[in-house]
Amino acid sequence: MKIAFFDSGIGGLSVLAEALRRFSGAEFLYFADEDHVPYGTKSRAEIVRLSLDAVGFLVSRGADAVVVACNTATSAAISELRGAFSVPVIGMEPAVKLAADSFGTRPTLLIATPLTIAGEKLARLVGRLECETWSLALPRLVKFAQELEFDSPAVWAYLREELAKFELERLGSLVLGCTHFNYFKDVLREILPSHVRIIDGIDGTLNRLASELGGGLKLACGEDFSELACKFDAEELDAGGGQNARGKSRQCEGSDESARSEQGKKGGDEQGAEEYDGNSGKIYYPNGNSVEYFYSGRALDAAQLHKIEVFLKRLDAMREIN
Ligand code: DGL
Repeated sequence: MKIAFFDSGIGGLSVLAEALRRFSGAEFLYFADEDHVPYGTKSRAEIVRLSLDAVGFLVSRGADAVVVACNTATSAAISELRGAFSVPVIGMEPAVKLAADSFGTRPTLLIATPLTIAGEKLARLVGRLECETWSLALPRLVKFAQELEFDSPAVWAYLREELAKFELERLGSLVLGCTHFNYFKDVLREILPSHVRIIDGIDGTLNRLASELGGGLKLACGEDFSELACKFDAEELDAGGGQNARGKSRQCEGSDESARSEQGKKGGDEQGAEEYDGNSGKIYYPNGNSVEYFYSGRALDAAQLHKIEVFLKRLDAMREIN
């Protein structure tokens, strides 16, 4: 079974990185629409067209399911994508409900792209919540990420200036409503008061993927994920559920302490853990997973693949920050 991830650029690697840790023996495809990034400042119609092209490409490469690892494309195009393709298409939404359920006695601040913030989908989602929800568009953060500028003085200044518009001491949580923002968790952590939790939508998205695929995905620890996915879904209803879900996944990996440290090493902490097969164009990862990467439909060259490994390592370092 081939599972595809699609984003405007490198943001969706944050979802893929977590999938590589959680699952085993999976064949993944990753499509970054590098020719058209950023999406967040384009029109809805344009994003619909680009998303249909990207998912069409992935389906033509044999994808059995597609994860839209992009909040902006989900907001603009998820209905059109589901209407156009017969494979399951899993979208990604800002985890404001999880934030409200978990820390809703205080306001939530959602950061996302301008298009996601202005979208009807978000308005409907937020309208159902009782929690006070503030929002902030941070389009320059996408540009910084794409230019591999993760903690430069310009990044710090931009984030400090934008976040200073809010009473941060009052906040309960900050929701990352754009997958590109996962690269900046360390900077955000430093700027925010320590009681503010940082929440992303990655666990919820992967739980939904696993539920959609039933027994089609195996957990890295050898358990049948379909069973665990049900547990995760139930937990999401509880306070702090999404974070618990990721904790559960780690707990599972670490049920045997030595196995966890071994997996940690194999999971990309060591240089050169991945293998490239020049014939198939696939990268083979630990846990028996493989990924084929594409930039707007083109296979990546060696230098681009090397950069992907740099991104995955940074995301791995950001993973524990909340
Ligand atoms: N990574 C995308 C998201 O989650 C969009 C970034 C962009 O292209 O503007 O919204």
